[in-house]
Amino acid sequence: MSGTHILYIIGFMGSGKSTAGKKLASSLGWSFIDLDKKIEEYTGMKIPEIFSVNGEDQFRNTEAEVLRNLSLESDTVVSTGGGTPCFKDNMDFMLETGVTVYLKLTPAQLVSRLLSSNDERPLIKNLAGDDLLKFVEEKLAQRSEWYEKSHLILDGFNPDIGFLKSRVKSHLTGETGDKSSFIQ
Ligand code: S3P
Repeated sequence: MSGTHILYIIGFMGSGKSTAGKKLASSLGWSFIDLDKKIEEYTGMKIPEIFSVNGEDQFRNTEAEVLRNLSLESDTVVSTGGGTPCFKDNMDFMLETGVTVYLKLTPAQLVSRLLSSNDERPLIKNLAGDDLLKFVEEKLAQRSEWYEKSHLILDGFNPDIGFLKSRVKSHLTGETGDKSSFIQ
C-alpha cells in the first residue's frame, strides 16, 4: 500500500467504534483519531454540554466542520460519532476521502452494550428498558440508509480485527473493487 490512507469507522452508538478503531490502527501501525474527542478539543466543551448549551443542530455543524478539518498527515483510522454519516453530506465526504467500515449490530446487541457503558450519551440519557430498545430500533432503521452505503460492512458484535485488517488491505490495493461490502 502506498500514499496516504484514511479509514473511517462508522456505526450506531455503542457499536464499539473507538475500541475497534484503536485496535485496527495499532495493528496497521497507523494513527488513531476519535472524532468526538476532536470536537471536544475544538469547542472546549464535553459532548453532552454541547447538546445542552448549543443544541443538536449546532453540534452537527461543528461535527461536519471538524470532520473536514482533521489534519490527516499520515495513515489514520478515524472513529466517528453514531450520527456522523447521517448529516451534512458527511457520508459522501467520507466515501470520497477514505475507506469506510460499518460495524453492524442488531438493536438488541446495541441496547445491551449501551446499558453496560458508562459514556454519557445525550440522545439516550432519559431512556431505559423498552423505550431504549424502541428508540434504537427506530433510529437504526432511519440511519441504516447511510450506514449501508459503507465500502465495508463488518459484523460488529465480536469483530475480528485481523480479518478486518486483511479486508481493508485488499480494498486499498484494489483487489476487491470499489464497493465491496461484506459480512463476516
Ligand atoms: C451521537 C453519537 C455519539 C456522539 C453524540 C451523537 C449520535 O457518539 O457523537 O452524542 O447521534 O448517535 P458515539 O456513537 O461514539 O456514542
